[in-house]
Amino acid sequence: MRRPSALAVLAGLLVVAVFSVSGAALAAAPAAGAELAGGPVVNVGHRGTAGLAPEHTIASYDLALENGADFIEQDLRMTSDGVLVVVHDEDLDRTTRGPAENCTGPVSEKTLEQVKTCDVGSFFNERYPDFARDGYEGLKIQTLEEVFRRYGTETNYYIETRSSEAPPGNPGIDDSSDMEEELLRLMDEYGLREPAAGSWRVLIQSFVPASLAEIHTKDPSLPLVQLYSDEETGETIRVDLEAAGEYAIGIGSSVDDVDRGLVESAHAQCLAVHPYTLAEKPDMQDLIDLGVDGMFTDFPNRLEEVLGEEEAVDGNRAAIGSAEASRVCLSGTGTEVPDTGGVPLLLPASLAALLLSLGLLAAGLRRA
Ligand code: G3P
Ligand code: CA
Repeated sequence: MRRPSALAVLAGLLVVAVFSVSGAALAAAPAAGAELAGGPVVNVGHRGTAGLAPEHTIASYDLALENGADFIEQDLRMTSDGVLVVVHDEDLDRTTRGPAENCTGPVSEKTLEQVKTCDVGSFFNERYPDFARDGYEGLKIQTLEEVFRRYGTETNYYIETRSSEAPPGNPGIDDSSDMEEELLRLMDEYGLREPAAGSWRVLIQSFVPASLAEIHTKDPSLPLVQLYSDEETGETIRVDLEAAGEYAIGIGSSVDDVDRGLVESAHAQCLAVHPYTLAEKPDMQDLIDLGVDGMFTDFPNRLEEVLGEEEAVDGNRAAIGSAEASRVCLSGTGTEVPDTGGVPLLLPASLAALLLSLGLLAAGLRRA
């Protein structure tokens, strides 16, 4: 009599576990107005916190992280001697002050030694006197390596390859340098390749599909985000989603192109939606209500406040939770899901039930 009783206990608990897993998966399925598979809304510090400090400086990255950013963004350019630096514009003119021969014109025509003579803080003080600080004067352009060296594997990065702008109408053209290769080399050197693949600790974004395709070919496990320029519309982006889903885990579009239809269409492809670039709290809330999975903002402090204590998670959980949400979504579509090694966050009840089942079975069999 005892043996059937133990088996019955096992069967019952396994049923509970299976239903728990199924229930979690069902609960995680994308719904209208919901983030992808129940994942978090990630707070991406646009160029650090470009509204409060000089963009792409350590001061900006530090402040963004202090203010709740889950990811800090880097726009990459390559100097004429092959060094990756974090500068948004093709030209140095807008954001730098210094010797004209070094600090005007394209980054790609200057050596690292030249761009290191440029001041990237003074423009901010001139443009935003309310937020100006004496300490910003004289800040230097950072190399990507300097950023990795400072923040290591403790911070999440959202890196954009900007080796070439996609000419309007020719989004596939990439006349770029070795930017992608050098990025991967640095990620390897600083131990970031595996955290990127497994836990989305590094997201790589580009407006240029060819740049992402190159990275995807070299390492299909890396999480990529296809950006769409503001020349696109929600409709043209929707048409491209299936193609983007072949290599990307998400899309980034201008906030003006995002509506509920685009979010639902992207989620149907298990693509996360990260619009750019938000400044005002009501606009952030509107996007959250549409179900976006994160957003770029010059003011991570404001997004943190909108999310509130309950929804704002720390950066590690934001990255891992996003990866897990994607994995859960893809597992429901029949798409092959690589074993990325991330920490599951969505099925703890299921696992607990399973472990309890096995434990009780062992106890029951011992008694039998
Ligand atoms: O990378 C997406 C976001 O940063 C907006 O684009 O022009 O500021 O790099 P941009
Ligand atoms: Ca960018």
